[in-house]
Amino acid sequence: MGKRDGKFRGHTMHLTRRSLIKGVVASTALPTLARAQTGYHIIEPQPAKVQLLPEAYPASDLWLFDGRAPGPEIRVAQGGRIERRLVNSLPQATSIHWHGIRIDNAMDGVPGLTQEAVVSGGHFDYDFAATDAGTYWYHSHNQSTEQVARGLYGALIVEESNPPDVDGEHTLVLGDWLLGEDGQLRDGFASSHERSHGGRTGNYVTTNGTAGYTVVARRHQRLRLRLINAATAQIFELGLHGLEGWVVALDGMPLERPEPVTSRLLLAPAQRVDLIVDVTAQTGDEAYLVRLEGEQGVAQATFTVADAVSASRRPTPAALVPNTEHPFGPLADATPAVLLMEGGAMGGLQSAIFDGGKRSARELAQVNQFWAFNGEVGLTDAPLINATAGETIRLEIRNDTVFPHAMHLHGHHFREIVKDGSLGPMRDTILVFGRETREIAFVASNPGDWLFHCHMLSHQDAGMKTWMRVLA
Ligand code: C2O
Ligand code: CU
Repeated sequence: MGKRDGKFRGHTMHLTRRSLIKGVVASTALPTLARAQTGYHIIEPQPAKVQLLPEAYPASDLWLFDGRAPGPEIRVAQGGRIERRLVNSLPQATSIHWHGIRIDNAMDGVPGLTQEAVVSGGHFDYDFAATDAGTYWYHSHNQSTEQVARGLYGALIVEESNPPDVDGEHTLVLGDWLLGEDGQLRDGFASSHERSHGGRTGNYVTTNGTAGYTVVARRHQRLRLRLINAATAQIFELGLHGLEGWVVALDGMPLERPEPVTSRLLLAPAQRVDLIVDVTAQTGDEAYLVRLEGEQGVAQATFTVADAVSASRRPTPAALVPNTEHPFGPLADATPAVLLMEGGAMGGLQSAIFDGGKRSARELAQVNQFWAFNGEVGLTDAPLINATAGETIRLEIRNDTVFPHAMHLHGHHFREIVKDGSLGPMRDTILVFGRETREIAFVASNPGDWLFHCHMLSHQDAGMKTWMRVLA
């Protein structure tokens, strides 16, 4: 089965198939919009009890932005500003990273690199321009293996000034949870098995906080679906049923032309896809966004189809209006860099540098570290890439492990240099399968210190992170 065998599947729990499909909506009330004295809207990560599992099971103790799973959707018009005061009501320090936004470095939310973690009871003001339209998300970037698994994430939507011609849109935040029968999150957040294998994969999958996410649609209706993979390790394999669709954007960035969805869509952790779908199912039927689990398909979102909006379907959708791109110069002039990924279970890593010295794989395992980038574990003093603003970089990523890794570069979008020399779509997260080599190119356009790491968050915590410095 190759790329998608059992190695990176998670535990299973004995919920019935019916309950897997018919979840219960998180029953938290909408908070009133609070404003700090500065005029900033408040966003408050906090512990909250939510009925994630079906009612036969107890509610779950989670950590959530404003007590909601997922956190509130933040929406702004392109060119507008996002201003939020993070008020930390968690028992742990935290921060917010605005994933995929080409942001002012000081607002990027990475403790140890761009800011101090916000202590319990403390606050931090985020204030930045939303230059690019698209589907983004925000999540905790402190102890994220634990904090994202506890639910600290939400959608961030930057609206185009020329939106596509659709009848409606839905943001679908896909998440997973590793739950026990008592409704509680399981296994701590530092299991060495998760860290050395595929990461922490949940046994209960939700869309917008419920396993039975259902909306009403109409036959021949055209909808925009904004899919966000907020899971800490799970790669979603998705398909359409009763819907005909086109991919119109990846990781927030419009494709030059819409691509018909003909086979399964892979959505790695942190990746987004914008779809335009036409409801083709008959009135009275159901259409689905389907999650494929081996041979079996499960409803990830259900559309109950009411009477037709029109007698016939519309023509093929147009492309979204592109964001300003940062075109790179001739690739022959690009500065080359290499990232060698090693380690993990069955990876054969002998030793690597950690904490200033060479350690054997056994010594590394004792401190719960399992992965190396270019022979070093975790953040190094020197950046992987030292660039001047405007410099074109081409980076070869060699995955010498048997696991897939979803590599995310902060503050920039890149394009893949495909084998035939052509360029792939702009993305901020690339899924690199086991034993695979891929190459990306981008302009280091945004001054500051930027993290580059695996978004399988247990991997990040177990060594898979490095950084890039861009000098103004
Ligand atoms: Cu979405 Cu550094 O992460
Ligand atoms: Cu990884």
